[in-house]
Amino acid sequence: MRFDILTLFPDMFKGPFDESIIRRGQDKGLIQIGLHQIRDYALDRHHTVDDSPYGGGAGMLMKPEPLAASIEGARRFNPEATVLLTTPQGKPLKQGLAQELSLKSGLLIICGRYEGVDERIREQYVDMEISVGDYVLSGGELAAMVIVDTVTRLIPGVLGSDESAITDSFSDSLLEYPQYTRPPVFKGLKVPEVLLSGNHAEIARWRREQALIRTAENRPDLLKQANVTDKELLFLRSTGVFDV
Ligand code: ADE
Repeated sequence: MRFDILTLFPDMFKGPFDESIIRRGQDKGLIQIGLHQIRDYALDRHHTVDDSPYGGGAGMLMKPEPLAASIEGARRFNPEATVLLTTPQGKPLKQGLAQELSLKSGLLIICGRYEGVDERIREQYVDMEISVGDYVLSGGELAAMVIVDTVTRLIPGVLGSDESAITDSFSDSLLEYPQYTRPPVFKGLKVPEVLLSGNHAEIARWRREQALIRTAENRPDLLKQANVTDKELLFLRSTGVFDV
C-alpha cells in the first residue's frame, strides 16, 4: 500500500512515521509513504497557497491551483490511488472504514488547513472526505497520521503474530476486556482469579462479559451494532447498572 500525503507541514510527520508499527511496515516493504509539500507547487514568487473566500467571511481558504498541481504530481506515483481529504465535515473514520481503505492500492491524503479548500478541488479530485472525530484540529496532518496508522495495522504482515488486529477494540463492535500481566498483586490489587485458573472456557466467558460491561458503560451506542445475544442482554440488565 502506498500513501501519498499532501501537506504544508511535511516535518510534522517525521517522528510519528519513523517509529513503531509504521516504521516496521515501511522497513518490511509493506507500505511506502510519500510526503509532498503543497507550497512547492505554488508558482508565484511568494509561493502563495491561501486566499480569502469569495463573498467574504472569516479566515482563508487553500487556493485551488497549487493543490491541483500537487495532487496531479503526487498521483504520478500511484495513478490508481483513492483521494482523501481530511476535514471535520467528512465521513467519520470508524474501524469498518479503515478496513475498507486497507483494501485500496493506494491512498492520496490531502491535509486540509485554514478554513478549508476551494470547493472545486473536492468536485474535481476528492473521492472521500474523512473526519477523525467531532472536534476541530488545527489542520489535517494529525488526521492523516491517524488514517495512516489505523490502515497500516490492518495490512497483512505488518503486525507480528503476537499482535492482532482481530482482537482489537471495535473489530467486533465491542470495546476490549480488561487485561492484566505480572505481578499477581499490585498495590494491593489482585488479578481476577479466573485469569489464573487455566480454564479457557471460563476465561473466554469472563472476557466476553467484561467487554459487554465496558461497552455498556462507555459506548452504549456500539451495543446496537454488536452481535449481542438475548442472554447477554439479560446478563447486562442483571448487573443492574445499565439501562440496555
Ligand atoms: N481537520 C480539522 N479537524 C479535523 C478532524 N476532526 N478530522 C479530520 N480533519 C480535520
